[in-house]
Order: sequence, then C-alpha cells, then structure tokens
Amino acid sequence: MATEFRFPDDFYWGAATSAYQVEGGNENTDWAQAAREGKVPPAGRLADHYHRFEEDFDIAKELGHNAHRFSIEWARIEPREGEWDHKEIEHYREVLKALRARNIEPFVTLWHFTLPLWFSESGGFERKDSPELYARYCNFVVDELSDLATHFTTMNEENIYSGMGWLRGAWPPFKRFTLADLFRDVSTEHRETDATASRSFWTPVLWYRVISHLKTAHRMVYEQVKEAHPEVLISFVHQVHVFESNWNPYNKLKALVAHYILNGSFSSLYQYCDEIGLNYYHYKKFGDTKTYPKTDMGWNSNPERIYDALMYVAHYKKPIIISETGLADHEDDMRPDYIRTQIRAVARALNDGADVRAYMYWSLLDNYEWDLGIGMRFGLVEIDYDTLERRIRPSAYVYKQIIKANGNVEKAGEMDTKG
Ligand code: BGC
Repeated sequence: MATEFRFPDDFYWGAATSAYQVEGGNENTDWAQAAREGKVPPAGRLADHYHRFEEDFDIAKELGHNAHRFSIEWARIEPREGEWDHKEIEHYREVLKALRARNIEPFVTLWHFTLPLWFSESGGFERKDSPELYARYCNFVVDELSDLATHFTTMNEENIYSGMGWLRGAWPPFKRFTLADLFRDVSTEHRETDATASRSFWTPVLWYRVISHLKTAHRMVYEQVKEAHPEVLISFVHQVHVFESNWNPYNKLKALVAHYILNGSFSSLYQYCDEIGLNYYHYKKFGDTKTYPKTDMGWNSNPERIYDALMYVAHYKKPIIISETGLADHEDDMRPDYIRTQIRAVARALNDGADVRAYMYWSLLDNYEWDLGIGMRFGLVEIDYDTLERRIRPSAYVYKQIIKANGNVEKAGEMDTKG
C-alpha cells in the first residue's frame, strides 16, 4: 500500500561522520593506543577530513544536504587533564563556519567513542569522578562554540560503547563477560578482538557502573549547559535495536533481556534532553527462520524496520533526529534501495505521529569501522586511501533526488538520477 507522503518543509537531510573515523591523526586516544598495542587496526590519516573538511562540505552541498552531523575529538581539546588546546577549538570553529557558509545546519556530537589517553589510562568511565570530568569538558566546548551551533549531542550510543567495551570486550578496554557467548546471535559479524579480551564473570558489575556514570554525565551536562545556554538544544544519541521473537518462551525471554541490555538506559536518559538522536542498524527476531539480504558487515538488511525504532522512540514525546543509519556496501548495489525503503518507512512513522525532524545517513565518507578497520565502506562518498580522491557513489545521487523531492521517493524516482 502506498504511504501518504508527508515530510515537513523544514526537514533536515544530511549525513554523519565522527572525528576518529575520518579526521586522521588522532594519536592521543585510547583507540590509537590499542592500535599501537596491535589490538585494533591503526587509523593513520584516513580520509584526512581534518584538513579537507571544506572540500567534503562542498560535496555535501552539491548532494543537496542541509544538515551535517560530526563529532569533536575530546583528546584534541583536552590533551592533558584540565589543559585546553585553544588552537583545536579554533579548528572546530572553522569547521562550523564552513558549514554555516554553505547553509548546512551543524549537529555537534561532543563525544563519539574515543577517549583522551590521560582519561582512559586513569580508569575512563569506571572512574568515580568521570561524570564531573566529562561535564567540565562539555561545558567548555559548548561555551566556546554555541554562537555557531544550536544542536549538541552529549554522547554517541552509551549502549553500544559500554556493551562493546565491557560485555562483548571487542573495543577498549576489552573486558568480556564470561557468558557473553549466550548472546552471540544478537550480533552476527565476526570480530577478532572477541578472542583476546580479558574474561570475567564480574564484568557486568563494571558495565553497570559505566552505564550509570554515563547517565549521570549526560544529566549533569544537560542541567549545566541549559543553565548557561538555554537556547542550545541538547540530545543524546542512542542506537535502538528492535527485538522480537517467535512463540518460543525461551526466545521471548532472550528478546526481553536483549531489549533491557541494549535499550534499558533510554528510559532514564530521555528526561534530560530537548531532542533524541536515534541511530538504527539492527532488527532481530529470535527464533526467526527467514533469511535476509546481508550487508558487508554480515548484518541482516531490514531498512523498513526503522519504523519500529521510530515508533518506540516516539513514545517518549520528543523531537527525533535520525542521527545515523546506513550500511556497509562496497559495491553500492544495495544502498539505493536501502535508502528508498527506509525513507518510505520514515514517512510512514511521520504519518503515524512520530515527530521526526532530521534524517542523517551514515556516513558521508568511507571511514574507519573501529576494530574492523577501513574495509567496511559505509560512505555516500568513496575514499581512495592512497590518493585521498573522493568519488561520489551513485546512491548519493539517488539520495539527492529524494532530498530534492523532500522525501517523496516516488516523485524522486521520476526525476533524472544525476540531476
Ligand atoms: C557508530 C558508528 C559506526 C556505525 C556502523 C554506529 O554504532 O556510531 O561509529 O561506524 O555504527 O557500525
């Protein structure tokens, strides 16, 4: 059945990146340290977005984007505890000015997974005073940048960050729960690091501590920033996993526990935000016998299920920013339909009452896919890592036409695919 089309006129269309995944040269971080120890692939200069952001924003502009999400590298701003690097603040001011000059609305993420070494080596978010240290950093950045940006996200995916670091043990600090294998079927991709993580039965205690500190940190930033800058809009970004199960009670239990572990933090975070950032990649039905097309990550492709994720978040009655969604597809043959199907599903959610304000594809550029390195290609724009040449993929033009038709996929299809 055709969906009644309805996107607001002031809807934001764009794409997202994160500092460590595209900037290059972020050596003073826990991830760079893990790479030096041979635990994850080295990042190096990557797309060199740190020096080429103007060129990349020209591409975003050409592709019709009117919004862009990026993150600030904490280790650049506070390279040593309590010391601010004003040159790096100046750098991000230039980034924001470059977006403003192109009429692209910035969505600034204050922290996307990577930590300054001084912080990670002294315990990171296991530290009792981590919320205060984190809030001090966020307050400083917002004070310095709020004349150029309105939308600030405190943190990216507290659930994935803590789950990958402390339960699955695939990311720094590589702490794995002994019984994590019970949940192996939640994520299907293979991660080498799983095998080398330190295993303990008590890891969930640390995980719970980290999650609690992250929630406190978010609340502190929200309260303090709103007091100093009431005009700023604060969000957190959560990756919503959609879980279902067949009739089997054991599968039902698994779906409930998985939902609690991955989405449980949501219900306390939403009270402290002006808008909610939603990342969507996964739909999982326990006991499902169907087979689905697979992305290069080995993930099932279920773009239409973003509808369920949106309706879950809509329940919290705040404006919703789709801050990430996308797929690794180096041939670019699944991406066009993925985007079309997904935008139809977003339209359906809008029609059913979800207050969606933005759709940001992950990612503008090919980037460093964490412990899986640079082989996973999520970009609308392909990066040649030898020459740093940028090549716009055909799917980026499909998305451009949809933007031009303000989300009307059918109308976009009638338009010339390169226009
Ligand atoms: C993260 C990104 C990552 C993407 C694809 C999200 O969880 O925010 O950093 O590249 O998923 O795996």
